[in-house]
Amino acid sequence: MSKLIDGILVSEQIKQTIRKEVSVLINKGIRPCLATILVGDNHASATYVKNKQTAASKVGILTRDFKLPENIEQEKLVSTINELNKDNSVHGILVQLPLPHHIESSITNVVNYEKDVDGLTSYNLGLLFEGTPKLIPCTPLGILQLIDFYNIKVNGMDVAIINRSNLVGKPLGILLMNRDATVTFFHSKSRNLEDKLRNFDCIITAVGDRKKFTLKNNMVRDGVIIFDVGISRTNGKIQGDVDFQAVSEKASYITPVPGGVGPMTVTMLLKNTVLAATISYRNYNN
Ligand code: GUN
Repeated sequence: MSKLIDGILVSEQIKQTIRKEVSVLINKGIRPCLATILVGDNHASATYVKNKQTAASKVGILTRDFKLPENIEQEKLVSTINELNKDNSVHGILVQLPLPHHIESSITNVVNYEKDVDGLTSYNLGLLFEGTPKLIPCTPLGILQLIDFYNIKVNGMDVAIINRSNLVGKPLGILLMNRDATVTFFHSKSRNLEDKLRNFDCIITAVGDRKKFTLKNNMVRDGVIIFDVGISRTNGKIQGDVDFQAVSEKASYITPVPGGVGPMTVTMLLKNTVLAATISYRNYNN
């Protein structure tokens, strides 16, 4: 029988601490504020952004909402971000991904690194690479918090990460390696993924398309620890990358979808916004 990793429970506990930190900042005269930028009308992205804003409001973080048209010129997007960079009342800036193809991926570097609550700028990724991170990408940070909450010891573990993005796979791999895990990255060109996965103590999967990849019971070893970051919608039903029922029979720990890593990602955005506001307060008051 596996133990369910409850992302809702853990994020509620963390949000209580965040609420207190927000009150402390408000008493010092600083109201944390998160600006979100959504380009285009991708339905899933719009829902994610709305969830992030609602969660922010519930812990006392102000939000600013920017919705820009799909065909926006790159320069216009850059100038919107730069306005927010200059605005001292804004502490966190989130540019929702994916962006339309005509926008260069380096746009994430336009965000001031001190307001980079996604941890995606070269500066923040560089700090992470060096082992001295400040603002850490939200999904990897959320997974680390789950690992700590459930007292999972990753040192010496063989960990498979099925994802190689800047948002999830790469930063997560470095964070786990810094905790002495042995990390292997898999991706769409990896050969014999199904056979290789059986060798791993922990599998973190973030594919998000069950037609391309579904983690099945026969691909994992007994006692495996599973973090499922995938989100697929089939006939209105939300599922992860994992065949949850069958894999649960073998796993020692497993995250459900929904209710696992997803709520943690949102909560880590709030945590990063409070961290960014705290850093900004210190910079202006020292
Ligand atoms: N799209 C999916 N997840 C994320 C995230 O954590 N941050 C941003 N900016 N976009 C996303």
